[in-house]
Amino acid sequence: MSKLLANIERVSAGYNGETVLRNISLKIHDHDFIGVIGPNGGGKTTMVKVLLGLLTPYKGKVSQPSGPIRIGYLPQAAQIDRSFPITVQELVESGLQGRRFWRPGPGKAQKKQIAQILHETGLSAYAHRAIGELSGGQLQRTLLGRALIKEPNLLVLDEPNTYVDKTFEGELYHWLQELNKKMAILLVSHDVGTISSMVKTIACVNQELHYHPSNVLSAELLKVYNCPIDVIAHGPVPHRVLGEHRH
Ligand SMILES: Nc1ncnc2c1ncn2[C@@H]1O[C@H](COP(=O)(O)OP(=O)(O)O)[C@@H](O)[C@H]1O
Ligand SMILES: [Mg+2]
Repeated sequence: MSKLLANIERVSAGYNGETVLRNISLKIHDHDFIGVIGPNGGGKTTMVKVLLGLLTPYKGKVSQPSGPIRIGYLPQAAQIDRSFPITVQELVESGLQGRRFWRPGPGKAQKKQIAQILHETGLSAYAHRAIGELSGGQLQRTLLGRALIKEPNLLVLDEPNTYVDKTFEGELYHWLQELNKKMAILLVSHDVGTISSMVKTIACVNQELHYHPSNVLSAELLKVYNCPIDVIAHGPVPHRVLGEHRH
């Protein structure tokens, strides 16, 4: 039986009275792996903010029908202030609380948990390094550790493959397949090609949201939905754009 974790219903949202998202709806069940695609400025991050409760919609609502869930959030790298004097370990630790700055030190169980996450993300050797001194991939791994430490039911990643090398990208995708056995995943990317091999379903966000209950999309559909994705223009085969990379 699949459980409805989060329900976005007929939401309109934006900033300063301007509408960015128009009447969007999306249901997220446990075990889902939803790829969110769409052009830059289409409203993907805005939808994530609404889902996380960081932005109040003008209209519609977001609910957690099966009871409160824990959401792990990996923000878009551009939103991170890298000059902030915080170490890898502290940033991971901050995921244990909803708050960003968390003063009283962690307890014994939490210390173990933090050490375990640092180990799993390959960051043990960097625990005391300032985040400003990390490579793009290391920063993303730290942010992933931060998102995972509260053992979320839903993991939301906003463009995790930006500013990282191919090695990290491969590692990340492997992790996500494993993590999806334990939690639902919502993966935002402007790059259809890279996500197509692992997501189960796709939401195309460009002011409106069009949901596709499969990971295969035709170029025609993407055009109809006004979802101008790079791969359409550059891909060798204009049809079944997302089918090519399936295992
Ligand atoms: N804090 C903000 N204040 C005002 N406008 C914003 C803000 N954040 C995003 N926008 C605008 O909302 C639109 C959608 O942005 P965003 O959700 O970041 O798109 P995406 O993540 O798909 O690139 C853009 O036009 C952007 O300029
Ligand atoms: Mg964005």
